[in-house]
Amino acid sequence: MSSAPPPPRRVGLLVGRENTFPQPFLDTVNRKGDGQGVTAELALLQGTQEDEEPAYAVLVDRISHEVPYYRAHLKSAALTGTVVVNDPFWWQADEKFFECTLARKLGVAVPHTVVLPNKDYVPDIDTAASLRNLRYPLDWEAILRYTGLPAVLKPNVGGGWKDVHVVDSLEQLIAAYDKSGQKTMILQQFIDWDDYLRCICIGREHILPIRYNPKAEFMDRYVIDRPPEPGLRRRAEAEAITLVQALGYDMDTVEFAIKDDVLYAIDFLNPAPDFDNFSIKEESFAWVLEKMSDLVIRYALGEAEPPWRRDHRWWKYVERAAAPAT
Ligand SMILES: Nc1ncnc2c1ncn2[C@@H]1O[C@H](COP(=O)(O)OP(=O)(O)OP(=O)(O)O)[C@@H](O)[C@H]1O
Ligand SMILES: [Mg+2]
Repeated sequence: MSSAPPPPRRVGLLVGRENTFPQPFLDTVNRKGDGQGVTAELALLQGTQEDEEPAYAVLVDRISHEVPYYRAHLKSAALTGTVVVNDPFWWQADEKFFECTLARKLGVAVPHTVVLPNKDYVPDIDTAASLRNLRYPLDWEAILRYTGLPAVLKPNVGGGWKDVHVVDSLEQLIAAYDKSGQKTMILQQFIDWDDYLRCICIGREHILPIRYNPKAEFMDRYVIDRPPEPGLRRRAEAEAITLVQALGYDMDTVEFAIKDDVLYAIDFLNPAPDFDNFSIKEESFAWVLEKMSDLVIRYALGEAEPPWRRDHRWWKYVERAAAPAT
């Protein structure tokens, strides 16, 4: 009788331009996984067949939002047994506006937020014929009554502060909106914060709140010499856990602007968070390596699995199809 091959315990990493995280992460997994048969490497893909056996026990995805083929591969890999960090299905569906609604339902404070119809559409959309469900012109005054001024106009899906505008007047708002093209934008109450934290969140349970200064130059934004006080830290941890558990992200950052002792969640759609040692600094970088390597090793060994793993409705049909006939 032939025995089944041992399950692969390989961890693959998909990355873009970042340079400081990948090799130390792979080295850490290889060092800690040694003796348990867990290895880690940069994943190498070259077109995927639909009947392919999974090559990796775990794939850590830092870039599929920019490389659609990777996303397609990751969805199929998830179905064939690979644990993908983060869930490619949910990541693709997620949006900042949805997250604001979710936060409100979960009791996490968020700024007043409105999602706006696009300014422009693909050429085949005819304004009169195709958009009959949209009331035009938008009632900008009513929208601004909800968000107040100043307000922040930003993409519903985006990162790197691209197309993020703080507007002080209706005129500035319309000028910024008119440049938004085919991007779906949200308009958000501007929180004139007294304090600001960014929390690195790993494995839906490990939270590292770091003081953050969005007004500083990029390299100086993580403020490491003034850690948050224990009370504030605990509140940020609790709010961040609420959000990442509901979203199911194994790696994420959650930002809070603090105003009059309220923690407003500002941006928590960061499923490929900045892990560069020069921005988060050495101590946080070491923490990230530790938590990320522990997480993927547990996944590779089958000691844990993400709770969303069997959430998708097709799983039960796949399992039914695979079950031996009685
Ligand atoms: N409602 C708000 N109130 C106050 N400041 C805000 C608000 N929304 C955004 N900002 C500021 O703009 C910055 C960028 O916004 P946001 O984080 O939503 O964009 P992003 O492109 O996802 O950024 P990142 O790449 O840092 O994740 C925030 O770090 C914060 O400083
Ligand atoms: Mg972001």
